[in-house]
Amino acid sequence: MRILIKNAFLVFEDRVARGDLLCDGRKIVQAGGVIDAAVDKVIDAAGCYVFPGFIDTHTHFDLEVGSTVTADDFVTGTKAAVAGGTTTVLDFATQERGMTMMDAFRKWENKAKNSSCNYGFHMAVSEWNEERIAEVPLMIENGVTSFKMYMVYDNMRLSDGVMYEAMKYLAKEDCIIGIHCENDDIIKARVKELKAAGKTSSRYHAVSRPNVVEADGVGRLMDAAYLAGAPAWVVHLSTREGLAIARQARERGQEVYLESCPQYLVLEECMYDAPDGAKFVMSPPLRSKADQEALLSAMAAGEIDWIGTDHCSFTMAQKAAGRDDFSKTPNGGAGVQNRAEIVYTRAVKGGYFDMVQMGRLLSTQAARLFGMYPRKGVLRAGSDADIVIFDPDAPHTIRAAANLHNCDNSPYEGYEAAGRARDVILNGELVVENGKLIAAGKGEYVHRERCGRYRQ
Ligand code: URP
Ligand code: ZN
Repeated sequence: MRILIKNAFLVFEDRVARGDLLCDGRKIVQAGGVIDAAVDKVIDAAGCYVFPGFIDTHTHFDLEVGSTVTADDFVTGTKAAVAGGTTTVLDFATQERGMTMMDAFRKWENKAKNSSCNYGFHMAVSEWNEERIAEVPLMIENGVTSFKMYMVYDNMRLSDGVMYEAMKYLAKEDCIIGIHCENDDIIKARVKELKAAGKTSSRYHAVSRPNVVEADGVGRLMDAAYLAGAPAWVVHLSTREGLAIARQARERGQEVYLESCPQYLVLEECMYDAPDGAKFVMSPPLRSKADQEALLSAMAAGEIDWIGTDHCSFTMAQKAAGRDDFSKTPNGGAGVQNRAEIVYTRAVKGGYFDMVQMGRLLSTQAARLFGMYPRKGVLRAGSDADIVIFDPDAPHTIRAAANLHNCDNSPYEGYEAAGRARDVILNGELVVENGKLIAAGKGEYVHRERCGRYRQ
């Protein structure tokens, strides 16, 4: 199949240029200039921006959390993802205690079989010992070159020392570990205190995890990475205090990668007071306008590396487990379909940064660090034909019911988005046309190379 996109604004890594783009089979063969060629399909993209397919670095599909499982599995989650312009998700395969990483990998491979966008896995580990270390080469062979550790959640939490050892080991392999940065002990003490005072509604979720709780975690990560001589990757950074600590680490010469999420750019702590406040119970929690401003400015300045969604959806019935005790609410929210339109509306229309920076934050930089570049993340001859045609003038209201996710709520319900992904090409095939998914189940596994440490 040869597809020719005409009259677009092509978003390259360093500029936007008017031109055409030609795909032949699974590859881009020309990006730029005026192209006249015999093709199977011509798409007129006048007035639209053409980006390399967006990459969501942070999803949790089909994840068991306590006694419940996320509302979205790979079937529904990846339909929503691709409808929003995401052509690759990196989901967290989870190695539970006593399980091998290979078992976790196979389990996730099986879960992801009928995906509608491409997918790769980070390996979230709950143990770090000789057996797990011995499996690292096998992970690399299988295209898993990024890992995750949590400072929280009793079933996953690891100590700072373990984190230090793992970072030191993995840096030598040009692999990286993302860390969920929060101070678990303080959170537990505050939860106990709040509950004893009868403060059990959703808003106390945020009170139990104030900004300094994240900043403490970021500080411990930076120190461990400094001593280990390893790169540091903060997942879902949400606070200006955490950002300040990451900046200091860079100032002393550290290699730091920062991820943030749309929820920390447009949603606020006061939202917990809404009748459906439980849908905002996620960790880290929603913050203030001042935090949003700090994160947006840092994105504009090139200090934040990419934006993932942390899509981890639960229905309101599942969220009701925390009706009388916020700490029993399953943590996480839906957002995989809405990332690009929110970032565009809030940050590009809002005047913080331009379409080039949007392309870097939603695609290029993730492709680079996570071993997919230049196969993905760039409009270039020879790169994969994963492409988004983004209409900057498509005002619409975000509604959970209109999303393709399998969730009855959205934290972004009612958000007025200014633009949207209009058409999406995945592996050379048109799968979304005029905002409608026209071909499902076309996703493939992305075997990733070692990390492209561009801040080294
Ligand atoms: O609340 C959230 N974010 N749940 C998903 C797991 C995690 O912490 O990333
Ligand atoms: Zn997460």
